[in-house]
Amino acid sequence: MVDEKLNRLNRILKDYSDAPGPLVQVLHRAQEVYGYLPADVQLRIADRLEIPRSTVHGVVSFYSFFRTEPRGEHMISICTGTACHVKGAERIVDMIQEALGILPGETSEDGRFTLQDVRCIGACGLAPVMMIDEDVYGKLDRKKVEATLDLYRNA
Ligand code: FES
Repeated sequence: MVDEKLNRLNRILKDYSDAPGPLVQVLHRAQEVYGYLPADVQLRIADRLEIPRSTVHGVVSFYSFFRTEPRGEHMISICTGTACHVKGAERIVDMIQEALGILPGETSEDGRFTLQDVRCIGACGLAPVMMIDEDVYGKLDRKKVEATLDLYRNA
């Protein structure tokens, strides 16, 4: 499995080795393969593309869509944009933190959930809103949060 991922990464690096300015594309594709960008993958990319390691690390750190830690099986994204903030997003964040025992940016011990806060996901009319993976859940209150988490816990 690990070798398969390494082979895929090597193919990606080969595909981009002659293209100009491929770093962000390579990082995206590497993250698709690994689910995140661990240090050894960043080093391999830097060496193969002949880019300073600090440059690769800088790009990974700059863009919020790059992850340096493995993510859980399900990504919970709680909207803390203006409309959701006004409708009590803070309470929703607290409920989920309490239920899962993790803070935004962390993954639960069992590897099931990663929590992140995001700005407006374009469903302001349903505020307060969260997404679990690609599914949107709106007009959240304690009961809905608990029922929704249970759907994924028991899946
Ligand atoms: S502010 Fe939360 S969906 Fe727009």
